[in-house]
Amino acid sequence: MKDLIAEMLRGQKKHLSFHTPGHKRAGADITELDYSDCLLSPRGVLWEAQADIARILGAERSFLLTDGSTSGVFSMLHCLKEAGKNRVAAPVFSHPSVFNACKVMGMTCIPIFQETRFGIPRQPTLAQTECALAQAEALCLTSPDYYGNFPDLASLSALCRKEGKPLVIDGAHGGHLHFCPERYAGSYADLWVDGVHKSLPALTQGAVVSAKTEEWGARLGESVILFRTSSPSYPIMASVEHAVKYPRNEAIELAAERFKARYGCVANADWTKLLVPFGIHCAQAQRFLEAHGVYPEFNDGNYLLFYLSPLTKRSELKKLGKLLEKLPRGAVGEDAPAGAIPMYREER
Ligand SMILES: Cc1ncc(COP(=O)(O)O)c(C=O)c1O
Repeated sequence: MKDLIAEMLRGQKKHLSFHTPGHKRAGADITELDYSDCLLSPRGVLWEAQADIARILGAERSFLLTDGSTSGVFSMLHCLKEAGKNRVAAPVFSHPSVFNACKVMGMTCIPIFQETRFGIPRQPTLAQTECALAQAEALCLTSPDYYGNFPDLASLSALCRKEGKPLVIDGAHGGHLHFCPERYAGSYADLWVDGVHKSLPALTQGAVVSAKTEEWGARLGESVILFRTSSPSYPIMASVEHAVKYPRNEAIELAAERFKARYGCVANADWTKLLVPFGIHCAQAQRFLEAHGVYPEFNDGNYLLFYLSPLTKRSELKKLGKLLEKLPRGAVGEDAPAGAIPMYREER
């Protein structure tokens, strides 16, 4: 499939810019002109690119976002509110955007308890979710989470269907999963956001929010315009289309799984997240790696997380492995607190 936005940008004719942006340079960073379409009411290349993306993601409608998954989360929750669902059950370790959206829109968040073991929040169980969902009208899950763990999507979506309650999924860390239907948010949710910029080759802030049915798609179309910038970045939009159309890289997926086994990473089901336990040696390990030009995604005080994408090279994994071999490891206690994600607090 062609990258339609990039093709349009390449095919531009030279022109005098009496329009924004103020840098006045030709190139990819243009504004909404007659040939470049308009994200607010797309009819041309943006419409076609969104239609291609929806087909790839198995959605009825998909919407380009240049404001990160955060704007997707806000759009989805607004959509729920417009559908009369004001009480949303969400795990306590959800991203702050979930709680912020509830707060801003006057919705009630029903927290779903999550245990933390060995410093890692565990995805909520069916029983924990059932308990919170009994007091809510919709469910908002995170899949996968920052640590590469998945909720039981099959059981939890079945629960939502049984209770006639919509399921929305924050897939900020799952943009690479549309190749794996059994793990992909879009196989289960009514509304979901893909944080394309985190695990696929897109520019920072590039994301997509999608709806499974025509009815949710129409609502989402109304909601998304409230949370998007009115000056969308063409480089970001082109990169999102490119990233969603980017081919799967099974060689690096396999290499990542082998790496996990060889270097004692914590077992998880997401090849893009290599979680290496360092315990009390975490800060020292981070300093050593950075001194050798290797930067992890985070240091949560227990683990260093190394975030991969289809563009990660096997030679880079090899270099990382060699450096890891030189570092002392410390144990992470069963009751160590989770460090990377702030937990929901009632007083927010
Ligand atoms: C689970 C989760 N959801 C949403 C977001 C927000 O994504 P973005 O930074 O693309 O707005 C993040 C960011 O890290 C996240 O971890």
